[in-house]
Amino acid sequence: MRKICGTKSATLTTTKLLAVGTMFGCIPLVLKTRKLPYLSPCPSSLSLSSKQTMAWPTLTPPELLFSISCLLLFLYYYLRYFVPSKNKQPTIPVYWPVVGMMPALICNIHDLHEWITGILDVSQCNFFFSGGWFSGMNLFVTSDPLNIQHIFTSNFQNYPKGEEFSEIFDILGDGIFNSDADVWRAQRVKAQQLISHSRFRAYVAKSSRDKVEKALLPFLAYAAKQSQAIDLQDVCLRLTFDVTTKLVFGLDPNCLSIGLPAVPFARAMDDAMVALLFRHAIPVWKFLRKLNLGKEKKLANAWKVIDSFVEETIEKRRAEKKETKEVENLPDLLSSYIDDNETCKVDKFLRDTTVNLMLAGRDTTGAGLSWFFWLLTQNPHVEEKILDELKLVPKSFTSEGMVIFNPEELTKLVYLHAALNEALRLYPPVPFEHKGVVQDDMLPSGFLATPGVKILISTYSMARMEGVWGKDCSEFKPERWISDNGKLKYEPSYKFLSFNTGPRTCLGKDMAFTQMKAAAAAVVYNFYFEVIEGHVITPKHSIILQMMNGLMVKVKRRSAL
Ligand code: HEM
Repeated sequence: MRKICGTKSATLTTTKLLAVGTMFGCIPLVLKTRKLPYLSPCPSSLSLSSKQTMAWPTLTPPELLFSISCLLLFLYYYLRYFVPSKNKQPTIPVYWPVVGMMPALICNIHDLHEWITGILDVSQCNFFFSGGWFSGMNLFVTSDPLNIQHIFTSNFQNYPKGEEFSEIFDILGDGIFNSDADVWRAQRVKAQQLISHSRFRAYVAKSSRDKVEKALLPFLAYAAKQSQAIDLQDVCLRLTFDVTTKLVFGLDPNCLSIGLPAVPFARAMDDAMVALLFRHAIPVWKFLRKLNLGKEKKLANAWKVIDSFVEETIEKRRAEKKETKEVENLPDLLSSYIDDNETCKVDKFLRDTTVNLMLAGRDTTGAGLSWFFWLLTQNPHVEEKILDELKLVPKSFTSEGMVIFNPEELTKLVYLHAALNEALRLYPPVPFEHKGVVQDDMLPSGFLATPGVKILISTYSMARMEGVWGKDCSEFKPERWISDNGKLKYEPSYKFLSFNTGPRTCLGKDMAFTQMKAAAAAVVYNFYFEVIEGHVITPKHSIILQMMNGLMVKVKRRSAL
């Protein structure tokens, strides 16, 4: 940013610049108009006499973007904290000259999901967002199931993730999440083969059950005894981190254990996911990346931590493989990839693949479980029904006398499945999907999608559309998933989008349900939770829908049923 210069005698009738600590940690914020004495000396060649008029500075594009960011940031603080909100009714954002709809986005970024939901609600599930000049943000936002079916399935080829997506998600390298066309297809075929193999499925069931028995239940029993508040979301994420690391790398980092050790890899993943969301909303992110500032700095650090964990683990696995033939038939995904003739030699491939699988498996399942437990605390009648169903299931006992279930038995339960579906509907762990456009195409809603426009689908909003889920769409109602004959009701995946739909449907859905059911059944049967009074539950701004402040609860042991 350019310096403000003047002579010693000059006074600046200007706005007071106060550095108040901003999103990027570097932008001064204009707060209040006042006369200021001269601020700092500047080189004489640049000083102005009192009669000279100051010429408009010529700004380079990055400087211009930076200035616009400052202005928008000012607007954000001004409108958020100083202008009382008289009209809470959602409206389609105003398009301003130069900055387009950016002021509205910036003012509402703290409540992004609800804001988008409100607009979709008043715009019949479709609206066009433009971020104005330079932002490159031309988004068609939709939650219309017919559009979704068209984009994700009927005309799938025309809607790849696109180059911009892979630029934003650069930390995922060329992994399955971040690739299109043949690169994606080859990875999908391989991953599908491995994940659907009966040996791997048995490994998922055993690893999930073992972790619940040996780590989750003992931890909760300890917390109940201590009668101290714990962050249940942290516990869920540790659980799924341990299980996913075991499934992907074949080793258990034991991050869910009494004492809750620090896990730099997990923290790095969290930081990266937050930074990736900001890249969607902050057009100047590339400039900030160059300067290594704010969230970009955090992302760069996170990237190093993730890479070193993955590199070390791959090396360790390779070394083990050389030393002993035992590793040859291990069912974890990394070992299978190492065994594969085509993929075994390329470290970059192994790195990208394992990072993608870790993200796919750990954060999504952990976030889904956390919302599920929170919803149970708010809906005790649902918890009761789950318990009634569990009473009929064969049980085993841990050494500490707690009840544990076999994953195979849990696959038959209708109500538990319905309750998990309902939690994933209301709080989809992947709250946004986005797609590029290859060539002009008319969507079922009548919008002409053209190259350069990005399509944004809010899965969070979709759950809250009356036109899609009915008048009770915002209620937690597992019953909506149960048909009159008591069986699970089928809902098309272009409507229940939590696991995506079409050729890119989630490959780990069954695996996720195995893990979630193993944990949910054992926890609900042995414990219940009380949310700490005054604890505020609100979504975190991240690519994965977690709770911003965690889920602070007291754990109570349930008396024998
Ligand atoms: C509750 C848990 C889960 C949810 C809600 C979920 C959701 C999703 C969603 C929405 C996508 C599409 C993402 C995109 O294209 O942008 C996806 C893709 C994927 N998921 Fe899951 N997922 C879950 C668990 C898992 C697990 C445990 C695995 C196993 C490692 C997994 C593996 C994958 C893979 C490999 C893809 C990429 C598919 C492709 O692009 O062809 N997921 N998942």
